[in-house]
Amino acid sequence: MSDVSSSIRDPAVWVNGKPIDIPRDCNPETSLNDFLRDVLNLKGTKVMCREGGCGCCVVTATYKHPATEEVVSVPVNSCLCPVYSAVGWHVTTIEGIGGSGKPYHPIQERLAEHYGTQCGFCSPGFVMSMYSQLQENPKPTMQQVEHFFDGNICRCTGYRSILDGMKSFACDSNNGDCVDIEEMNKSLCAEGIAKPPTSGVIPIARGWKGQRFYNPGSLDQLLKLLKRYKDDEYQLVCGNTSAGVFKEDVLVNCYINVRNVPELHNIRLSKSGLEIGATVTLRELIDTFKEAAEKVTGLAHLDRISDHYQQVANQAVRANASWAGNLMMKHRHQDFPSDVFITLEAAKTVIKVADEQGTQDHVLTDFLRLDMRGKVIVSAKLPAISTDQHFYRSFKITLRQLNAHAYVNGAFQLAVNKQKDYTVIERPTIVIGGISDKFNRATGTENFLLHKSLMDSEVVESALKVLESEVVPVEEATASSPEHRRQLAVNLLYKTILDIGSDAVEGAARSGGPVLTRPLQRGEQDFVEELQPAPLGQSVRKLESKAQTSGEATYVNDYPAHANELFLAYVLAPEAAIKVTGFDTEEAENVPGYQRLLSVSDLEGRYNNNISLPIFPKDS
Ligand SMILES: Cc1cc2nc3c(=O)[nH]c(=O)nc-3n(C[C@H](O)[C@H](O)[C@H](O)COP(=O)(O)OP(=O)(O)OC[C@H]3O[C@@H](n4cnc5c(N)ncnc54)[C@H](O)[C@@H]3O)c2cc1C
Ligand code: FES
Ligand code: FES
Repeated sequence: MSDVSSSIRDPAVWVNGKPIDIPRDCNPETSLNDFLRDVLNLKGTKVMCREGGCGCCVVTATYKHPATEEVVSVPVNSCLCPVYSAVGWHVTTIEGIGGSGKPYHPIQERLAEHYGTQCGFCSPGFVMSMYSQLQENPKPTMQQVEHFFDGNICRCTGYRSILDGMKSFACDSNNGDCVDIEEMNKSLCAEGIAKPPTSGVIPIARGWKGQRFYNPGSLDQLLKLLKRYKDDEYQLVCGNTSAGVFKEDVLVNCYINVRNVPELHNIRLSKSGLEIGATVTLRELIDTFKEAAEKVTGLAHLDRISDHYQQVANQAVRANASWAGNLMMKHRHQDFPSDVFITLEAAKTVIKVADEQGTQDHVLTDFLRLDMRGKVIVSAKLPAISTDQHFYRSFKITLRQLNAHAYVNGAFQLAVNKQKDYTVIERPTIVIGGISDKFNRATGTENFLLHKSLMDSEVVESALKVLESEVVPVEEATASSPEHRRQLAVNLLYKTILDIGSDAVEGAARSGGPVLTRPLQRGEQDFVEELQPAPLGQSVRKLESKAQTSGEATYVNDYPAHANELFLAYVLAPEAAIKVTGFDTEEAENVPGYQRLLSVSDLEGRYNNNISLPIFPKDS
């Protein structure tokens, strides 16, 4: 361990106001969640999916931004964040904000008062998502509050009561009661917040298999490390949220954190376009794009991309996920329906890629074919376009509106002459995702549309046919059927054309252009309280609710494993709705510790009953 950094003797993370040394035996792969729960025994932060999808593990990270030096607070899915990425951060967990005898935090109180818990497993995650958001936006509107929870899943309460409790903090709610969050947070960051420390080309941690974690503080140091590990199994780490989508089954020898490299975070706005550094997060892009769209006429289309990104992943993921990390996922898994790829490609983005030899520019379709070993994405430039002729549209079709990957997504840039019947004056850019690992650009349709009028219905029909013939979706287990996806792609082009020509399109077709937006949701509960005989029939707050909202309630996976503990796992049939004729236990019997197989014959009668359905059907 001689080369482990001596500049940071004990890599430390602040947890609930106290500096905590990360023990040297923590492997580089250790997540912040495992560190909090298993090393610090802070079990209030829950864990379930380990994919960034359910939000029960959310904590708040506060740190000085490596480039802007502003103090920022963001929600973090602790299940995805490596603990060594959090070195120098101030992490606030559910235990840090309140609990029995502390007192409870108003968010914990409010959720309990509004009957927002049932089993309570998700509650700490909801509370910490709200807490994180209020740090940056202490006076949210009800609409904003609704969007705070796009990454929190509740399996049993129902969202109405949760949202009622949370919306009571909104400045436009009837019982609006904004809280002075700054005042409440003072004690947790009492020691002041510094920039996360970096360690040059010396590792800050080394795992038991020799794997190292580096935390470079400049592009030069990062490139030196890439040169050193180019031929080894290395991984750049930014938000590490890709681990929630793809589990890469390789032993990584070297992790290099790119998040603290200031040169990768430059944002430059000029009349010719917008340059964004590789570590800029999707959350930052949402604001940056809106601002650029307002300030530079030729970047008005970025407003559309900003809206699109609000439909990518969820709040906690977006607060940590970089656009460059997303592009690299597309680079590795070319069938990934990346929203970042389609939107940046249609915006004719050029990216800068660096290695020890220097820096090169690439359009995104070339980048997909580039050998990225030993290289790093440095930045991207989105060029300004002429707004009176160019139209930019992008869409995402998903199983549900939020926190879901696209079945099909599409981004379109068309330049037309409105005065000449909307004639297409440049080769358009039509990018469709979710089709296959080979298909990104609808080049046949792009060529067909050039110099044709979008107001000619025969042209439009033919263009849709060309697109239909060149889009050949592959069968994909988690997506909708190929035929459905082909139809979606065609519909998106049609929708784009209707929207571009909305001034000239007549009748019902006109309504097909705009994107529908979801209004504020509301729900009501109507019941008659029978006050007599008291207390029967009176509605009372659930006794456990505050223990649940403060993370003090314990669940089965909060208990440590006991020596010789017996574990039970379901064995699933490879296909649904089949008759099981027997069990082959030979392989299982060879696993050390195997005890026996339990089947329906062990659970006859009332034990084989899960409310109304048998656990094992009679025939199995
Ligand atoms: C729950 C969930 C939902 C999601 N939903 C969507 C969605 O709807 N649409 C969508 O498009 N995406 C979605 N994503 C993907 C998400 O956008 C990406 O995980 C994220 O953008 C990756 O960024 P990161 O900083 O976390 O990358 P990391 O996970 O840190 O890195 C990803 C890869 O990029 C490499 N890398 C990182 N930075 C650089 C760099 N500067 N240069 C070269 N290589 C680099 C890493 O080595 C790694 O291989 C979702 C993710 C999650 C977890
Ligand atoms: S455990 Fe589900 S998001 Fe982290
Ligand atoms: S999962 Fe939300 S209360 Fe049970």
